[in-house]
Parts: sequence; C-alpha cells; structure tokens
Amino acid sequence: MTEEQLQIRDLARDFAEGELRPHAEEWDREAHFPREIIQKLGELGFLGMLLPEEYDGLGLDTSTYLMALEEIARGDASVAVAMSVHNSLPTQMILAHGSEEQKERWLKPMARGEMLGGFALSEADAGSDAAALAAQARKVDGGWILNGTKAWITNGGFGDVMVCMCRTDTPENRRGAKGIGAFIVPTNTEGYVVGKKEDKMGQRASETVGIAFQEMFVPDAQLLGDPSMGFIYALQGLDGGRLGIAALATGIAQSALEHSLRYADERRQFGTAIREFQGMQFKLADMATRIEAGRSLVQRAAQAKDAGEKVSRLSSMAKLFASEGAMYVTTQAVQVFGGYGYVKEYPVERLFRDAKVTEIYEGASEIQRTVIARELYR
Ligand code: CAA
Ligand code: FAD
Repeated sequence: MTEEQLQIRDLARDFAEGELRPHAEEWDREAHFPREIIQKLGELGFLGMLLPEEYDGLGLDTSTYLMALEEIARGDASVAVAMSVHNSLPTQMILAHGSEEQKERWLKPMARGEMLGGFALSEADAGSDAAALAAQARKVDGGWILNGTKAWITNGGFGDVMVCMCRTDTPENRRGAKGIGAFIVPTNTEGYVVGKKEDKMGQRASETVGIAFQEMFVPDAQLLGDPSMGFIYALQGLDGGRLGIAALATGIAQSALEHSLRYADERRQFGTAIREFQGMQFKLADMATRIEAGRSLVQRAAQAKDAGEKVSRLSSMAKLFASEGAMYVTTQAVQVFGGYGYVKEYPVERLFRDAKVTEIYEGASEIQRTVIARELYR
C-alpha cells in the first residue's frame, strides 16, 4: 500500500470505529441510519472517491476506494451499501456517458455528498433478467414521459438522484437490451412516487423501496448518452458495482472474524479458552484464509480495472467469491459463539444476516457464474 492508501484506509477505519460500529446494532433494530452520516461521508470525500478533482471528487484509483469501502462495511454494512451504490453506479455512469453540462450539474453535488445517488434497474418481474424491464419512456417535445415501477431501489427515497433505466423503444418495435435509455431523475420530480419500504432480513438500516413513475416528465437534458444504450451503460456500471459489493462482503466477513477471534480467546469451556481446541483453530484459520483470498481477488480486479481492462469476468469472480466467503465466514462465526451467536445481544447474528444479501443483489451468485462462464468462452 502507498502512503496515501494507508492514510485513506485509516481515515475510513477511524470513521467506522468511531461513528458507525457503536450504532450498528441500534440502526439495524430501527431499520434506519441518520442522514447526517451521509453528510459526514461527503465531508470526508467518501462520496466522490472515484470522481476526478475537477468535479470535486478525490480522483482516487479503484484499489484505494475499495479498501475504504471495506473499512466502512466493517463498521456498518447498511451505510456501506449506500456508499457503494452511489460511488459505483450513478456517478460512474454519468462520468462515463454524461455531457459536460450533466457532469457539472450532477457530479459536483454528488461528489460533495449534497446529493446521494441511486440506480433503478430492477422491477418486480425483471430482476436477474434485467433486460426484460417494462418501465416505459415516451418521447415528447423537449423530453420524455416516464411511466412504470421499479423494485428494490437502494436509496430510492432517502437519496436525491436516481439513474433510472426505462424502455425507449415502442411496443410495436421492441429492441430488447438495445431499446432502453438511462435517465437522471431527482427524487423530488413530480410523478416520482416512493412506495413500500422493504422490511429486510439484513442490512436493515439501508433503505430499499419500490418506486413508481407516474406520467413523470424528464427533460432531454437528463437523458444519459444514447437513448438506446442505457442497459449497456448499466451493465458496464455493474462491472464496477460488483467490485464494491465484493469489498463490502469482505468488510462484513472481516468484522465477523475479529469478533470470533476475541470471543474464542475469552470464552472458556473444559477449563480453557475455546481457542485452544483444534476444532476452533481450524475454523478461525479457514475463515481468515477465505477473507484474504477474497480480498486479493478484489484487489486483482481493481488493478485490472485501473489499467483500463474490461473486468466483467474478474468483477463477477470477486463478487461471487467474496459474497459466498462472507456467508461462510459469518456462519462459522455464529458457530464459534455457540448459543450466544444465535441471539441479537452479540454482533455476529447481525453480520450473518447482513452477509446473505451480498449473494443476491447486483446479480445473484447464479448470474455471476453465468457471466464468468460466458466470458470464459469469449
Ligand atoms: N458491459 C458492456 N456490455 C455488456 C456487458 C458488460 N458487462 N454485459 C453484456 N453486455 C452487452 C452484450 O454484449 C450484449 O450486447 P450485444 O448484443 O451487442 O453483444 C447486451 O449487453 C446484452 O447482453 P446479454 O445478451 O448478455 O444480456 P442478457 O439479457 O442475456 O443478460 C445478464 C445478461 C448478465 C444476465 C444481465 O441481465 C445481468 O447482469 N442480470 C443481473 C441484474 C443485476 O445485476 N441487477 C443489479 C441491480 S442493482 C443492485 O442490485 C444494487 C444493489 O443491490 C445494492
Ligand atoms: P430472480 O431473478 O427472480 O431470481 C430468483 C432465483 O433464480 C435466484 O436464485 C437467481 O439466481 C435464480 N436465477 C434467475 N435466473 C437464472 C438463470 N438464468 N440461471 C440460474 N439461476 C437463475 N436493484 C436495483 O436496480 N437497484 C438497487 O438499488 C437494488 N438494491 C437492492 C437491495 C436489496 C436489499 C435487494 C434484496 C435487491 C436490490 N436490487 C436492486 C435488486 C437485485 O439486484 C435483485 O434482487 C437481483 O438482481 C435478483 O433479482 P430477483 O430478486 O428478481 O430474483
């Protein structure tokens, strides 16, 4: 690690230790974290990590960003997913495909944390098969009228601006994956309706909502790039987004390992600390090894991305391995804690619940395997 990377990792670690970890249990119980946390992340530069300095970002490389994100997730996975979506998806899509006016208008407040971003691709009937989405954009004078519904949107009401994928083809001339546009939509737009907030198993403090577009007018100035390429832009964004989720999963697993190491040292049975039993030592060793391997794969993919390589395969591998690793590690952590691992009084119960969704969102494990296999034959 360079001096700069160490500094940023330590800044994220201190913030997570001081401002996130002590509240994670309460935020999970209340299914909410305060908006001030987003403001503080913004003040530290954590919401513009990958954006160039000319747009008020920190202009950091992917490796450094992912190190910081892992630390934030070690403190609280719900805050980390809000940060991951914002940094990896809407901001990167606008940076890659936006006009100069769009970058000036949206990226600067997003980098400073004054606007929290989200990404609205999924629908109730189009999750893994995202290209089957049905929300429709109809061309009118000066812009587009959007109608339809989106499901599972992180930051969908809590956030300020969403990049929303909607069909721009017509019912008479469907063009599949090449008939979708990406629109920049502030959440205070007339016709943007926030629906049910999901009552989730884990990452409960992160907001996940359904949203509806009801005759919502979006001016041409808020269409991103080519109106038929929004789905492709979204998949390109997800190549980076999945690396964020991999780092986040690594942070959850690291936290579970740390709690397990401490507990195995303190807990005594048969007259000795349980860490003295080989059965426990093997578990701890396997947990640490899975985490280190996942982290290495994340960093390998990050370096490839920074070198300008296409990272669909590596990114899916990192997301798959780190999320399944997080599930493995948190399951073992509950086992190390015995009965105490099964109750809310101890943190590993929450970490176990928080880990599960990393195997589902931004493409379930089965989809990551599909992408990897396709890429192997390319
Ligand atoms: N980058 C650029 N282009 C890509 C691409 C990529 N990574 N992957 C595919 N494409 C292109 C293809 O080349 C193809 O174009 P051509 O026809 O010109 O070759 C076009 O996109 C369509 O690709 P496919 O035929 O492969 O599309 P598909 O319909 O078979 O689906 C899929 C592919 C990989 C399954 C995709 O639908 C997918 O990733 N599904 C999962 C959805 C997902 O991850 N959702 C995440 C929502 S966000 C979220 O979840 C956030 C959160 O929780 C916190
Ligand atoms: P389905 O697609 O119905 O899948 C059900 C099962 O079938 C899965 O196990 C899946 O892997 C399997 N399956 C489906 N197709 C195949 C196949 N071809 N081969 C093998 N198995 C297959 N979406 C957004 O757009 N923005 C967000 O911000 C966002 N945030 C989210 C936050 C949370 C907490 C959650 C739970 C979801 C979020 N999502 C978001 C949606 C998420 O990306 C989808 O849930 C995910 O892509 C899976 O879609 P689905 O739930 O419809 O499951």
